[in-house]
Amino acid sequence: MIIIIDFGGQTAHLIGRRLKDLGIGVEIINPKNSLKKIAEKGPSGIIFSGGPSSVYWKGAPSINKKIFELNLPILGICYGWQLAAHLLNGKVEPSIKEFGPVELTIDSFSDLFYGLPQKIRVFESHGDSVTKLPAGFSVIATTETVRNAAVAHPEKRFFGVQFHPEMHHTEHGKDILKNFATRICNEAVRTTKLPINELIAEIRTKVGKKHVIGAFSGGTDSAVAGALVAKAIGKQFIPIYIESGLMRAGTRERIEHDFPKILEVPVKIVDAQKEFLSELKGVSDPEQKRKTIGALYIKLFEAEMKKNPGVKYLLQGTTYADFIHSKGTKNSAHIKSHHNVGGLPKDMKLKLLEPLRYYYTDQVRKIGLKIGLPKDVVYQQPFPGPGHAVRIVGAVTEERLRQQIQADSIVVTELKKANWYNKVFQCWSIMSGTKSTAIKGDHRFYGEVVAVRIVSSKDRMTADWVRLPYKILEKISTRIVNEVPNISRVVYDITSKPPATFEWE
Ligand code: XMP
Repeated sequence: MIIIIDFGGQTAHLIGRRLKDLGIGVEIINPKNSLKKIAEKGPSGIIFSGGPSSVYWKGAPSINKKIFELNLPILGICYGWQLAAHLLNGKVEPSIKEFGPVELTIDSFSDLFYGLPQKIRVFESHGDSVTKLPAGFSVIATTETVRNAAVAHPEKRFFGVQFHPEMHHTEHGKDILKNFATRICNEAVRTTKLPINELIAEIRTKVGKKHVIGAFSGGTDSAVAGALVAKAIGKQFIPIYIESGLMRAGTRERIEHDFPKILEVPVKIVDAQKEFLSELKGVSDPEQKRKTIGALYIKLFEAEMKKNPGVKYLLQGTTYADFIHSKGTKNSAHIKSHHNVGGLPKDMKLKLLEPLRYYYTDQVRKIGLKIGLPKDVVYQQPFPGPGHAVRIVGAVTEERLRQQIQADSIVVTELKKANWYNKVFQCWSIMSGTKSTAIKGDHRFYGEVVAVRIVSSKDRMTADWVRLPYKILEKISTRIVNEVPNISRVVYDITSKPPATFEWE
């Protein structure tokens, strides 16, 4: 097995995921007391994850230098590599910040880069870089701005990369981690099975004779979580859809018609559009918005719970990406409070049931298919819990919500018509909060700018913007400015994640 030391990187868990996909045992541990844990586990190699800190920051996570004397291979990723270089007497300095894709040119194809082409596109996300290598290290790959982009100390089997091989958009990233695990640490690749029976058994044991209310949004995550719980506890499960008015056009209709058949239990609908608009009045701070929505959802669920005294758990389709973004692990930075994780009130009476908390979107989809959910449910695009509210920059008003729902349906409809909807990970519109001048019917008009964001992704931790044919973009733009009232202009968001997140708020 391989030990991953988590220095707080947003994608630290993805390193483990990539290795687990190969059937390799993995344990993610904190830097503190890591030597003891390593001695207990006896790993074949160690990976230092990235992290948000600089090695010079006060309180930046560090590690006991004795780790370099264990005679185990080590791969340092981004901050992990900078920390290793710093501890081994190299020099780390603030550099040109690189966030997003860069071209890596490989000079040495043994070990880490075995079997790779000479040039690959990799994802970086760093502010510092190593400017002087520790003794015994040599450069094995460079980028235009970072000379020491990948380095090796062949005798000691220490490697460092400034980029993130675990990110889906790093080309051959999986091969690099596989090379480290198999060629350098001598691990064997094994096939893995989906743990469906274990998941169902876990739910049964945890819930016992209690009842579970299901937060049901119609999305893939809550549908898969709901179907697992329905299989585990049948009629002890009460799925509820809160109609917040913030969901995509057509969501309620699908829930009323399709889901009772899929779950084999009726879905209760709670109408709350007015309450959501009234609670959101004047709230323009994104975090405040998420927390307001989270609190109202819980209030409404608790009201439902009072009507069902046997209920102890609230089911949520939280996945690992939601959890990490809401500061799930010890050293990771807080990015945003996904409403089904970080936005929940502290004094909540219901206990959370989150069977998918440790799984990524692509794994959740595989589980969904395996337990018999229809393809259109499993492969629908993810939609954020707080819905259109986080796609309306600034305060949510009835008019802006109406504009957003209409613009978003145009994006979705046009992608479906052009057969692109299933090729992209997510597509949507954003009420940008910016105004611009336009001419409509020979009159000056000053109205809001709509942004369109269409991304490719696998696990939501990284994303790239989709190079959509201009003809489709043109159709979307023309329809939005012509059909949605008071819109002056349409722009296309061409930023990857990192540095940008998917959602604007
Ligand atoms: P970000 O914007 O964090 O989005 O890059 C990553 C993925 O998560 C979705 N998202 C959310 N999902 N509650 C959710 O259930 C939320 O509060 C939330 N915010 C973002 C987003 O659509 C993308 O799929």
